[in-house]
Amino acid sequence: MRAVILVGFMGAGKSSVGRTLAEQLGWTFEDLDERIERREGQTIAGIFRSSGEAGFRHAENVALQELLEGLRSGAEKVIALGGGAFVHEPNTALIEAVKIPTVFLDAGVEELWERCKQQSAERGVDRPLLGSPEGFRELYEKRRPHYLRASLRQETGGKAVEEIATELMRVLGLGRRRGRRGEN
Ligand code: S3P
Repeated sequence: MRAVILVGFMGAGKSSVGRTLAEQLGWTFEDLDERIERREGQTIAGIFRSSGEAGFRHAENVALQELLEGLRSGAEKVIALGGGAFVHEPNTALIEAVKIPTVFLDAGVEELWERCKQQSAERGVDRPLLGSPEGFRELYEKRRPHYLRASLRQETGGKAVEEIATELMRVLGLGRRRGRRGEN
């Protein structure tokens, strides 16, 4: 199995870099938050409203377990997690057990905040835990030591999505394979 899991704080670019990296490698891309929304039949914001953060974390853990169990040998997949997923111990235990490399997409907290605000204004991206700039920074600082437990750290500050994906291919030692036929 060839797979990689992208982790990091809100606004780190896990989904956009993941999609581009998968495209460049000819692998499939999977976003854990999208799987949660499909399974629950609700948006992430809706789950937070109806079940609170605890309900969301439970749904997240179940979806992650399902995703990892569903990986077959020969799978070639880039997986993006939501910002809190790699912080919660039941999830990290599942990830360690499957031995898939993890990459922490890192950037300064001001830039992360700006990216989230921009996505909210331009695309209506609703992040229930966005809060105030102070609360955002506090959560970032609390979580950063957890993200640093990933197998690799990739700096993303001031870089374009394509550039980050290309750097990731290099550090992961993965080559470009376009137009591959058959299942991933
Ligand atoms: C969360 C981040 C979100 C989403 C949920 C909780 C978090 O994903 O999973 O709102 O705890 O940081 P993104 O990191 O893609 O925004």
